[in-house]
Amino acid sequence: MVFVGRARELDELRAAYDRRPGTVLIVGDAGMGKSRLVGEFGAGLAGARVLTGGCLDLGENRLAFAPFTAVLRELVGNLGADGVCALLPGGVPGELGRLLPTLGPPAAGDASLARARLFEQVLTVLGALGPVVLVVEDLQWADRSTRDLLTFLVGNQRALPEVLVVLTCRTDLDQGHPGRRLTADLARVEWVRVLDLGPLSRREVAAQVRGHLGHEPDGGLVDRVYSRGEGNPLFVEALLTCLGAPGPAVPQSVRDLLLEPMASLPAVSQEVVRAASASGALVGHELLAAVTGLGDVELSAALRLAVAANLLVVVGHGYQFRHALIREMVHEGLLPGERAALHVRYAEALEQDPSLAGPDEPLPSSPVTGPRWRSGIPHAPWPVRGGLPARPVTPWPTPSNWTSSTRCCGCGTACPARRGRSA
Ligand SMILES: Nc1ncnc2c1ncn2[C@@H]1O[C@H](COP(=O)(O)OP(=O)(O)O)[C@@H](O)[C@H]1O
Ligand SMILES: [Mg+2]
Repeated sequence: MVFVGRARELDELRAAYDRRPGTVLIVGDAGMGKSRLVGEFGAGLAGARVLTGGCLDLGENRLAFAPFTAVLRELVGNLGADGVCALLPGGVPGELGRLLPTLGPPAAGDASLARARLFEQVLTVLGALGPVVLVVEDLQWADRSTRDLLTFLVGNQRALPEVLVVLTCRTDLDQGHPGRRLTADLARVEWVRVLDLGPLSRREVAAQVRGHLGHEPDGGLVDRVYSRGEGNPLFVEALLTCLGAPGPAVPQSVRDLLLEPMASLPAVSQEVVRAASASGALVGHELLAAVTGLGDVELSAALRLAVAANLLVVVGHGYQFRHALIREMVHEGLLPGERAALHVRYAEALEQDPSLAGPDEPLPSSPVTGPRWRSGIPHAPWPVRGGLPARPVTPWPTPSNWTSSTRCCGCGTACPARRGRSA
């Protein structure tokens, strides 16, 4: 896939790596290319270990230390559990066993000091690895524990002479969002460099369009894509995806652009995409099957179309929205009753079979099941049924009522199910 511009930012990242230790905080609106920039930087680095963890969009029910659990898992994949433990004094997992049980049981000791020990042990492991780029993405979704651990690591970077920390955070956040506070605090640290990703220039957008089409675009097309996409590479991609599709040539707004592929999907695929939007960042195939009540063949057919329409991408054994922004928009477009019903469905499916969450997958955000969604953290209890409210009035269609209830949503008339839905 074509990668355009960002030469200065790549240079800055490379320079920061050369003068490590240090931290680079990459900020920019959703879709501006933060993850892509980090990916390109990591791919071009020789001799460094790149460890990546992302904060997950789980609403109020955030997973404690989620990016660090992902980083540890990656490390265990590289070095084995014994190899990771060998980096710690005495060769025992210590508190890291709480983050990743495969490392072994956590050490007994004064519980009130467990957190301090955990922070120290993360520092010790990172410091023992040689040249490392630690990437923590999407700080806007960081849970409190992750924010604290990051603040600790960045504050103690002198103890990590071989580590460059690279953080990304969205800037299109509400006033008062904890992500704003965190980035403001980090930006004040002397050795933190802030890279603010602005829009691509017209020339860069022209190069992106050329790369997408595979030939020289006419100037009029570039002008239209540039003015509507505002130099945001994600929006440019969305505009290009809609080229040649039936219906209005230019959608009313970028928001509509991102959801445009939904309109061309059959009703069942749309419902599956809506169901996926109520999950966390990643949803497994079996979990989606349990939530939608669809059989394997039907679900796969529906998903295949959603993937082809560039709404979802396949990640391992699951699916993820091509961009978090699209998931947000689809989720926002759900009717309140639909949203609640979906969250109840997820809760029930996971309660019945916790393995559906998968070892690597976040649990879905659920406004109805209380704040205790966790996975992989042994002392965090599974949500209890008593936390569930009465089933909402608008149930998710079961296979028997699927056709009638979904037809409403795709019929194009002002039926009750369609009202208020933006997709
Ligand atoms: N410099 C670039 N050149 C070409 N495509 C880009 C560039 N930056 C981002 N993209 C594409 O735009 C989309 C959004 O980028 P992403 O990095 O996911 O945004 P962010 O992480 O800032 O939300 C992705 O499909 C990505 O491949
Ligand atoms: Mg990103």
